[in-house]
Amino acid sequence: MRITILTLFPEMFEGFLTTSIIKKARLKGLAEIEAIDIRAFTEDKHNRVDEYPFGGGQGMIMKCQPVLDCLKSVRTPSSKVLLMAPTGQQFTQAKARELQKQEHLILLCGHYEGFDARIREYADEEISIGDYVLTGGELASMVITDAVTRLVPGVITEESHLDESFENGLLEYPQYTRPVDYDGHQVPEVLLSGHHENIRKFRLKESLRLTLQVRPDLLQHRAFTKEEMKLLDEVREEEEAKALNQLESPEIKPDLE
Ligand code: ADE
Repeated sequence: MRITILTLFPEMFEGFLTTSIIKKARLKGLAEIEAIDIRAFTEDKHNRVDEYPFGGGQGMIMKCQPVLDCLKSVRTPSSKVLLMAPTGQQFTQAKARELQKQEHLILLCGHYEGFDARIREYADEEISIGDYVLTGGELASMVITDAVTRLVPGVITEESHLDESFENGLLEYPQYTRPVDYDGHQVPEVLLSGHHENIRKFRLKESLRLTLQVRPDLLQHRAFTKEEMKLLDEVREEEEAKALNQLESPEIKPDLE
């Protein structure tokens, strides 16, 4: 897999490309990732890459010439060009899986108030990493590069993906490691039992509980198995009992006097 990032700030990628899993993926030859400086392509005698917007308005707009010449220098027939923009389609784990199958991704990062709108016509897709506005597309391109690279076969073990959040439509269950007791907080006993079937059930139930509490939208269109329905009923009962218990506890009883 090859990922080419086009940016005005290639120095932002130095730490990202030389640390942890991304570094290993590059060293193993599983991912070729590079950041290319758009400014190196400007034909402006003052090295400018941006201009005021026609029609007036706030901020500066990235010009077509340096961006599109930079793009032309790296694009091949098998490249997929993604433009980073808050107005793009929302990036998801499913999108990361889809992108991982591509031979070559080009991630185009905007800065300042955005791109000349004609640049969009040269992109295959526009992607947003969330409903907020960043100062540029660089962080968005790192998020996408990270999520896609870790899915490249061999970068992390296949088993690591199985129970991951979003992979099976649920959030991942909580994990624990030594010590068994930390400052009075205990590891759930079932995890110490060595009973694989009970551990599997516990994890599935805790995945359902977490998803119900934090991301109920993920459960809305889920085709539940019989086992999942039963565990979800148990979770609902337990949570109701917990809520009732809390209401009855003396600390939060309303003061009626
Ligand atoms: N550039 C600025 N904000 C962005 C966002 N939320 N996603 C992708 N690119 C961006």
